[in-house]
Amino acid sequence: MYLGPLSSQPETDRTEGDAPMSDLKSGVAAAVLAVMGSAVAAIGAETCHADRPGYDLTAREAQAVYDCIADSLQAGYESGDTRWIPADYVAGYRAWTKASTHPAAPGFHTNRFLLTWVNDVGAEVYLQYAEDPVIPPGTVIAKESFSVDDDGAVRPGPLFLMEKTAAGQAPETGDWYYMAISAAGAPMAVNVRAACHECHSGFAHQGMLGYPVEEARVPR
Ligand code: HEC
Repeated sequence: MYLGPLSSQPETDRTEGDAPMSDLKSGVAAAVLAVMGSAVAAIGAETCHADRPGYDLTAREAQAVYDCIADSLQAGYESGDTRWIPADYVAGYRAWTKASTHPAAPGFHTNRFLLTWVNDVGAEVYLQYAEDPVIPPGTVIAKESFSVDDDGAVRPGPLFLMEKTAAGQAPETGDWYYMAISAAGAPMAVNVRAACHECHSGFAHQGMLGYPVEEARVPR
């Protein structure tokens, strides 16, 4: 059984990365709207709410949640000082090639939805979702995340990044740099070997890449 990337992510990731989006008041307003039958309620610019637990959302409903938070999600990532993470990755990833047709939550016990983009250097290879892909150095992959909890509350999650280095530059991580920006735009100081690579190395047969779940892959 595959439990998904986020059920076992470290606490630091969860606590630093996820910012609560709805306060009590908007939660009540959302509940009222939910009774009126909309799958997603947008209240003001910032607050989105699903009328169902995240694990119960269809692809369309997950997309509707995303449509509601998309602007504020990226604004959050861009709002901080990116420090060691190249600012143009954070500002520019949405112009890259999208590899996900819709946000999908790949695990049973996780409610985080993921959406993946790949820059021009690596898009063609990535979108083949191949075994043993030859990923060119300079490939950068960005993955947005958000969660929908059992009450339908929507929270922005971190932006995850992977960059393929020149051969031999990062031998301990298969020549990948891992980076993450919290929902509030702060670079996340995590031990990327333990917090990222240990799990990604389970995908060594795919060049350390997990790839979106099959039903959410943009066909090449
Ligand atoms: C418990 C396992 C696990 C951990 C820990 C994990 N990932 Fe992932 N990651 C995955 C899986 C599985 C996917 C593919 C899932 C999807 O996109 O639907 C993925 C996808 C990605 C992608 C998109 C490229 C790809 O693999 O297809 C990026 C970028 C990424 N992760 C970065 C990170 C970073 C940065 C960290 C550490 C902060 C991290 N990941 C921690 C399992 C993990």
